[in-house]
Amino acid sequence: MQSVLSGMRPTGKLHLGHLEGVLKSYVEMQDKYECYFMVADWHALTTDYEKPGQIPENSLEMLKDWMSAGLRPDKAIMFVQSAVKEHAELFLLLSLITPVPWLERNPTYKEQKQELMTKDLSTYGFLGYPVLQAADILLYKASKVPIGEDQRPHLELTREIARRFNNYYGQYFVEPQEILTQYPKLPGIDGRKMSKSYDNAIYMTDDENTVNTKTGKMFTDPTKVRKNDPGHPDKCVVCAFHKIYNVAECATVEAECIAGTRGCVDCKKAVAIKINERLTPIRQKRAEIDKNPDKIMEIMKDGNKRAGITAAQTMANVRKLMNLG
Ligand code: TRP
Ligand code: SF4
Repeated sequence: MQSVLSGMRPTGKLHLGHLEGVLKSYVEMQDKYECYFMVADWHALTTDYEKPGQIPENSLEMLKDWMSAGLRPDKAIMFVQSAVKEHAELFLLLSLITPVPWLERNPTYKEQKQELMTKDLSTYGFLGYPVLQAADILLYKASKVPIGEDQRPHLELTREIARRFNNYYGQYFVEPQEILTQYPKLPGIDGRKMSKSYDNAIYMTDDENTVNTKTGKMFTDPTKVRKNDPGHPDKCVVCAFHKIYNVAECATVEAECIAGTRGCVDCKKAVAIKINERLTPIRQKRAEIDKNPDKIMEIMKDGNKRAGITAAQTMANVRKLMNLG
């Protein structure tokens, strides 16, 4: 069976954008492939090295979010990067053969350095971010890697590094293919991209009241003031949520909005009900998980162990190929 590896940095609780994008595809893939889903805590440290305090807590939270969305330990291996030291060893060996200019011209690197101006990212580790990511992927011989568009250059680099390794030491690594997880057209409540840093997200762990309140604050067409004013649903956040959570009635919503027979207050109430319907089973699962904190730790440890077995096999081969011990 083909292997899949993907990872997320544990930077905080996951929101609906994550749920309907990456997580949804993880859940689908666990039935079709040998899946490795990794909490990329070392990657989180490349940008948050000044305050690592929350990373362990966030890692556990992320695992809970994953499982409440439907990932299952009997179907997928979920593990924490820093618990499998082979990632560091392969990172070191791959860094020996990776030319610095390959890393310096990486567009994601340049963008992030610009965007996160408040942090000093002129570190050796941050430049090497994609090399660590290549190690993550190659350790498990993953042939498929679900990622968002922004991670594409990292996959390209992974293939280039794999090719270079194979050239020097013999055909060993598989060149992985990306599976682009479409980020759903799910805006935040203010209309910008849903993101923790914009404070406009609905979280997987939000309760019913929070969802109702946040939905009530969603940005709507500003020209539609009264119920019978004709609206422009394409300019409305509420409508974007109807498109995802209320597919069956979405056409009616749009038609009524345009015709001026629909009020925004009712429209918001209707979509809040649908969002809550989507979250109900997730909340139930989450409550179950929270009831038994020992179990989640066990799942994490077991995942670390199982990932470690594959990683150790790969490293034994890599060492042999590189004439090491
Ligand atoms: N860099 C990825 C991100 O920020 C997370 C990640 C780390 C990853 N290692 C990975 C993704 C390996 C795919 C494969 O989203
Ligand atoms: Fe948006 Fe609905 Fe109001 Fe139209 S009626 S502007 S879709 S909230």
